[in-house]
Amino acid sequence: MTYSLGKDFLMGTATAALQIEGGDKNNNWYRWSEQGKIKDGSHSIRANDHFNRVEEDIALMKKMNNDTYRLGLEWSRIEPQPGQWDSKGLAHYRKELTLLNQAGIKPLVTLHHFSHPLWFEDMGGWEHPQSPEIFLRFTKTVVENLGDLASDWITINEPNVYALGSYVAGEWPPGKQSVPAYLRVLKNMIKGHILAYREIHRIRQYMGFAGKTMVGVANHIRVFDPEDSAGARLAARLMDRMFHQLAIRGMVEGKMLFPLGLGGHPLKKGFYMDFFGLNYYSRDIIGFKPTSFTTMFGEQKNDPELPKNDLGWDIYPQGIYRICKDYHQRYQVPIYITENGICDADDDQRPQYIYDHLEQVAKLREEGIPVERYYHWTLMDNFEWVEGESARFGLIHCDFETQQRTIRKSGRFYGDIAKQKAVTQDMVEKYLQD
Ligand code: FCB
Repeated sequence: MTYSLGKDFLMGTATAALQIEGGDKNNNWYRWSEQGKIKDGSHSIRANDHFNRVEEDIALMKKMNNDTYRLGLEWSRIEPQPGQWDSKGLAHYRKELTLLNQAGIKPLVTLHHFSHPLWFEDMGGWEHPQSPEIFLRFTKTVVENLGDLASDWITINEPNVYALGSYVAGEWPPGKQSVPAYLRVLKNMIKGHILAYREIHRIRQYMGFAGKTMVGVANHIRVFDPEDSAGARLAARLMDRMFHQLAIRGMVEGKMLFPLGLGGHPLKKGFYMDFFGLNYYSRDIIGFKPTSFTTMFGEQKNDPELPKNDLGWDIYPQGIYRICKDYHQRYQVPIYITENGICDADDDQRPQYIYDHLEQVAKLREEGIPVERYYHWTLMDNFEWVEGESARFGLIHCDFETQQRTIRKSGRFYGDIAKQKAVTQDMVEKYLQD
């Protein structure tokens, strides 16, 4: 046996509603696609037609021995107009969650994963001062209607990446480029998370599930390793604060770090995180670039020594070990790896990627770090935001024209690992030695 993860380790896959469902016109990414902003000319309306293929896709998860599945809900299907609830949308998700539970696959539900209704976008989205309360209202309806079917919830996916992509880089809807807007959005997302965190617990408690609810955030965490200069070290620290700590300390502790606030706790000091969700993809070497204000005088660089995925991101498995250890030391709560994966259309790197990253997880678990779950990003090739359909992260290949799904070699490997909770010599020979 080359390494073992332990029988109580849960393995699954992660997706986001907008990236797989297709068919919805009432959201910010539909408009962005209509405006021709998707690099390869594809459109969010197509995706994987998952909305009509839930059964088929759950059968594929089952085939790959998923213990758990991270799914998103499309807000615009549930609240198509402000305060108006669509019973068909809610019924659809009730059915999906019921089917997952019947298949023995534990759902982890994401409430906000980069997409939301057009009416919300048009009133200013997460920049609007009322956005936390509007998100709370959505959360309340969802949990009152679906809360008996899921114990585990992610309020918001990657607030830092969302705020950066949509409000600083301007590559995502609504396409703004403003640091003050970035700060407003983060602040509102922090409030939204804390309100939703309390609400999910409150509702699940009166439903009779006290003590059986896990609520967290999927935090995108990168490793920033500075080059050897004082300027680069300073830039890496500033970037860590602006990109990671503002959102994390806000969401976990309720603390508004400068420049979000003055370090106080406007929503009461607390601990608003039952598990630490961690999305890990890559590391950056940080150089010093005094002219670059929006990146805190830092420049993100590749390491020429490391292999790259199809999008040019460095593949650095030790990073997952380093960040899990770091955040466990800070917060001492269970860790769920809520995303980890690789853009690799040929699937010639993915099996090794999985092997290397899970090996780090096995090491963490041996050391007693409570990494309880791992969700591979992603179940199947899907609509990868502004990259469109051509960036392929799936364990399953999808032909978007025919909607034919084919489990890749890496998907079979992942399924075997999930079944045995170990990587054996046989598997290494079967999947890694070409
Ligand atoms: C993460 C997103 C996810 C997907 C992967 C590749 O930042 O949460 O939706 O785009 O990256």
